[in-house]
Amino acid sequence: MMEENSKWFENTVFYEIYVPSFCDSNGDGIGDLPGVESKIDYLKEMGVGAVWLTPFYPSPLVDNGYDVSDYFAVHERYGTIADFDRLLEAAHNAGIRVIVDMVLNHTSTGHEWFLKSCENQEKYRDYYIWREKIPNNWESFFDGSAWEYNEGRHMYYYHAFSREQACLNWSNPAILEECKEILRFWLDKGVDGFRLDVINFLKTDKAAFTRDNPCEDGSQKHIYDKNQKGVREAVAELSAFVHTYPDKFLLGEIGDDDLQTIQSYTGCGLLDAAFNFNLGSMEKWDEAYLAEQVLAMDAAGINPTLFFSSHDMRRQFSRLCGENVEAAKLLALFLLTAKGIPFLYQGEEIPLADTRIKSSRDLQDAQGRYAYEKLLLLGKTEEEALRYAKERARDYARGLIDWKLHREEEGSLKELYQGLLMLRREHEALRTGKYGNIALNGHLFYFERIGRQEKIAVTIDFSLTGMISEGPGGSTVLLEIMGGNGCTGLVERLA
Ligand code: GLC
Ligand code: CA
Repeated sequence: MMEENSKWFENTVFYEIYVPSFCDSNGDGIGDLPGVESKIDYLKEMGVGAVWLTPFYPSPLVDNGYDVSDYFAVHERYGTIADFDRLLEAAHNAGIRVIVDMVLNHTSTGHEWFLKSCENQEKYRDYYIWREKIPNNWESFFDGSAWEYNEGRHMYYYHAFSREQACLNWSNPAILEECKEILRFWLDKGVDGFRLDVINFLKTDKAAFTRDNPCEDGSQKHIYDKNQKGVREAVAELSAFVHTYPDKFLLGEIGDDDLQTIQSYTGCGLLDAAFNFNLGSMEKWDEAYLAEQVLAMDAAGINPTLFFSSHDMRRQFSRLCGENVEAAKLLALFLLTAKGIPFLYQGEEIPLADTRIKSSRDLQDAQGRYAYEKLLLLGKTEEEALRYAKERARDYARGLIDWKLHREEEGSLKELYQGLLMLRREHEALRTGKYGNIALNGHLFYFERIGRQEKIAVTIDFSLTGMISEGPGGSTVLLEIMGGNGCTGLVERLA
């Protein structure tokens, strides 16, 4: 069924698993690797082709595991290396590939490299970015200055995220070698690829540190602390290494909305695909914006990742659908028929709504907690601090899924996901076909996918109330989605 000259990941629908909250196997309230293994049949039945596992490595968990203290092991709360091996085998036996998250921009300050660097041990002296004086105005993405004083070394180190996540110094060639060893370990285990965390933030250019970031409307614009000269070269080295193993997929998270910038990290020996936020992170539902981005990405030659949710965002069901299942169906229809690589987020098929943040105790995420503490220090009331922190917090999509609560009903959203996944598997035009006409008429979004054998048209009525008039004569209806007052989505075979 698969084409000879397209790669497996271009034909695959991925499913993001946020390990701490996906499935808890031992009742301690925390998701774990055996829990993931127990859901392999569920994922297979749904038709998912690959999973992305977020970090499960040993970590002080300041940023929920994106602060790694040992890249060669499994955090005990998620299981053991043997559990990982079993999960990988079970997934592969079910025909599901596995990519793992790799955090190579920074390590936890609990990592032994950092501890040795603080002691100024020769080998580790330049593993991180140290300065006698704070050289610039750069702010961390989580809170305040990106420079933190270290009592041991009597110097400042750089951290783009929390102060417990020290950035590695990619100007030091030793870092690339260390990172290759990490990748080798997981490749030898048989993983099918990696998702490289915040990869365009690597610090590869010493000269950039002499430039202050500009400020706009009272907040800092991140200009010189990302996309530095040298990042592409580092990505090319990582890519060349990963691809010494056949058939691996290298996905990189690109924190930038500029389409040329996103595009510049992919193809030609770089990333196989970029995890790009320009489409998926829209704050409110806006089909005009959706159509505009689809056209612009196509014109820029980007084969995008398609998603509306991740562990860093509010859930699409609450954020974009007003918790209306009919709307959720239309989003699924778009995600699974548009051009790109779909990344479903755990639970969107149920559908799950945002976890509510009722008090400061519900603020688990570092970004939300810092915001809360900062406002209290500035003399704001707890209520005001919570209101502000709620906008910054990333806890909404991280609640533990209670699978017992979600029994299947006929005509359920999950069934639609399953049907759409099957449709995508069966039609090459939907997987890798190029776009034909794309048009937005009022709330009606129409696009064509042109494959080698057939042409498929998708019409989605985002008004939720309309009747889609019949398509051109002679077409075959592949799928109809009935909404409130009639048909709100249609996939037709034109030729
Ligand atoms: C990525 C992760 C996010 C994390 C950040 C720093 O954006 O998705 O959860 O906080 O990197 O590692
Ligand atoms: Ca558990």
